Amino acid sequence: MIVNFYERYQPKDQTRFLEDALIDGFLSTDGKYTGLLKAHFDQSAGIKDMLFTPSATAALELAVQLLGLAPGDEVLLPSYNFPSAANAVIKYGGVPVLCDIDPATKNISLEDAGLKISRKTRAILPTHYAGISCDMDRLMELAGSYGIAVIEDAAQAVHSAYRGVSLGSIGDFGAYSFHHTKNFSCGEGGAFLCKDPARMDLAEMLRDNGTDKAQFQKQKTSSYSWQCAGSNYMMSTACTALLYAQLLDYEQITAKRKAVSDAYHTLLSGAAEKLSGRIKPMEIPSYSAPNYHIYYIDCEDFEMREAVRKGMLADGIDVRTHFVPLHLSGYGKALGYEAQDCPGSLSAYETLLRLPIHTEMTESDCETVVCSLLKQAGVS
Ligand SMILES: Cc1ncc(COP(=O)(O)O)c(C=O)c1O
Repeated sequence: MIVNFYERYQPKDQTRFLEDALIDGFLSTDGKYTGLLKAHFDQSAGIKDMLFTPSATAALELAVQLLGLAPGDEVLLPSYNFPSAANAVIKYGGVPVLCDIDPATKNISLEDAGLKISRKTRAILPTHYAGISCDMDRLMELAGSYGIAVIEDAAQAVHSAYRGVSLGSIGDFGAYSFHHTKNFSCGEGGAFLCKDPARMDLAEMLRDNGTDKAQFQKQKTSSYSWQCAGSNYMMSTACTALLYAQLLDYEQITAKRKAVSDAYHTLLSGAAEKLSGRIKPMEIPSYSAPNYHIYYIDCEDFEMREAVRKGMLADGIDVRTHFVPLHLSGYGKALGYEAQDCPGSLSAYETLLRLPIHTEMTESDCETVVCSLLKQAGVS
């Protein structure tokens, strides 16, 4: 490939932090680097407390478990999505209700969510697609007016904000991912955020096999034992050290990704007349300060997206489509969904194309990408 889709940012001190963690000796969880990570998120993102988990999937499972769903309780989530949230709802006895997306942002359509709220709805679980925020004032108002919880799937949105407030920290619960492909990564990893300190205590138990070990470690009990059904959702020390090394450079990482996104936007806007709306650049609403996790374009139709995708791959530019919407998937169909149930999600599936974006890209790489794109769209 001439331009890779993704490259992991390699902070210069990562091996030193890893060695330090090894020398420290305690490789399980919640060691020295957990404290440093918590301080980082407190100082840079205003997040007062969080639990580090093996994945965003685990964090979403903790959040859904804390809802205490009764069989048949419903949770609204977007169809254009990764399956983790829907799996978590099913795992804890609920029914995922798949909503359509807003074509402008690819985030959950609040109109559709509003129509799908029923007496059984217990929560709304939005995803901040591409690290771009949902309209959180409207979303929180909708949830508040029905007394339902909000779980933010902020897997893609670490260090993104909505009107200055960090995503993941606005709803009742939030989930982050530090998977290899995310902006800040340690291979596999995640974090669980929770507004209510009392529920955070319960989350600590659920995360540690249903024991009150965390209370014991804080010297609030003289011993610890099994209190409720739980699991092991811990992040190991090696991962926390690798993640900390990356997060020290979070501003540079975000600035480099922003430069790529800005370059694409300028180059595509410059070609807007030639493209005459057949390819649209990604939109960032004014309320959103994204982390530039993804840069995507919207093509006129499936045929054009496929022609551009195949042509760009042949030019050595690693471009990718994204989610197969949940309602179109094998399991979605088995749950009774049909293709036209979420037309916006179907359209994103057919027409969205992600361009390369990572910290190692230069201005010239961005020009190479857009040059190939325009050539393949037949307008260069
Ligand atoms: C929106 C969304 N939610 C959840 C996940 C799952 O994250 P993890 O791999 O950390 O479990 C992903 C991963 O790509 C995602 O994009």
